Amino acid sequence: MLDISILKTVDNVKGVMDRRIFSDPDIYKQELEQVFGRCWLFLGHESQVPKPNDFIAGYMGEDPILLTRDSKGKLHSFLNMCRHRGNRICRADAGNAPSFMCTYHGWTFSTDGKLVGVPGYKEAYFEELDRSQWGLVEAGQIGSYKGLVFATWDKQAPKVDDYLSNMAWYLDLLLDRREGGTEVLGISKWMLKSNWKFPADNFGADGYHGPITHGSVAMLGYKGQPPRNPYARNSDNLAVTAANGHIVVGFSTTEVEMRRRYQNFPPNIQDYFVSTSPELEKRLGDTRAGRGTIPTSTVFPNMSTHTRAQLRMYHPRGPELTEMWIYCIVDKKAPQDIKMALKAHLAQTFGPSGGLEVDDMNNWVQCTDSGHYTIGKRYPMNQQMGLGHMSSTEKFPGKVAQSHTELNDREFYGWWAELMAAPSWNEVRLDPKDTRFVK
Ligand code: FES
Ligand SMILES: [Fe+2]
Repeated sequence: MLDISILKTVDNVKGVMDRRIFSDPDIYKQELEQVFGRCWLFLGHESQVPKPNDFIAGYMGEDPILLTRDSKGKLHSFLNMCRHRGNRICRADAGNAPSFMCTYHGWTFSTDGKLVGVPGYKEAYFEELDRSQWGLVEAGQIGSYKGLVFATWDKQAPKVDDYLSNMAWYLDLLLDRREGGTEVLGISKWMLKSNWKFPADNFGADGYHGPITHGSVAMLGYKGQPPRNPYARNSDNLAVTAANGHIVVGFSTTEVEMRRRYQNFPPNIQDYFVSTSPELEKRLGDTRAGRGTIPTSTVFPNMSTHTRAQLRMYHPRGPELTEMWIYCIVDKKAPQDIKMALKAHLAQTFGPSGGLEVDDMNNWVQCTDSGHYTIGKRYPMNQQMGLGHMSSTEKFPGKVAQSHTELNDREFYGWWAELMAAPSWNEVRLDPKDTRFVK
């Protein structure tokens, strides 16, 4: 049993949080059950499994899974676990195969999860093993949103559209810019001695750290003009809690701000985004067209998007360890040289050796450590920025406030605490989709 009440760990009235939520092993175990065990989790992109019998390996929480497209074209998410002793049935990261044979004793499963082969079925099992009961363990629900595949273990979870709610409106700025949608190119993976919530929160809420954390990269000649006063309150830079713990940071509302952000890209990439903005406007309408940058955001709990063409995943590996994954994501219709330029730009800025990522990682590791230090853990974390000064706008879906603020941090952890305390989805409040913004 926990020695602290989960709901008391996040105090959004005072704007303080108990830092043990980043280190405590019991809280972590409860997180695996109540957050990763029942939320919709991002598994991968449909472009990774385009053909029948394609598969990729991944994780849902700590559990290894396989995302497969069966021989009839249907998507599935299965535990990568043989039903005999529990060996993994597949050790490859990706591929195409009509079936998976366990390398321990040879039980074999088809891409739709059926147990189709048992060595010694006649002789050793007397044909009595009920093979229909020993297929792969399948996720409770699977669903897609414009190429992104999600699944949840919980059959009672809300439908994926209701779970994403208003967040879909913001994700369209990444996924629906051009006809044909998007595809992912390559992946970087590495281990980080941080709790998974630090990067999740950082990419959906923390615009505040940029000028200081990334100051050295700017000094090294990193392109892009910082605003004159990075902390000024202005309506060009918004924090949005879209719904259900999904958060967007630095959402820009003007073309001037959008163009300032494009300065961070090499000229050929800037030209590509500018030249394709009329198509974007046609597809998404003028409310979003002038704000054409890809959003920097977190889809609760552990997937982020970022302006620099990336999809990020934070797989928990312990309270103080995270397996970080980053995909480069591009418009399918983009010219090949632009795709390669975006991929190269991403590798220079984010990922295990990206200039911006290395700045960030060191902070998250040290903040995680403070959650287990004997004296340090007694003192709460501060999230008071902008408390009581919510300046909302009705122009966009969700709760919208001018940056800089810690509104998104408070909302992210508030939703986390609610899920951690709720016995089932019946007790969780869901933020409905704002129907004024349905396309
Ligand atoms: S563990 Fe897989 S066949 Fe025995
Ligand atoms: Fe950063």
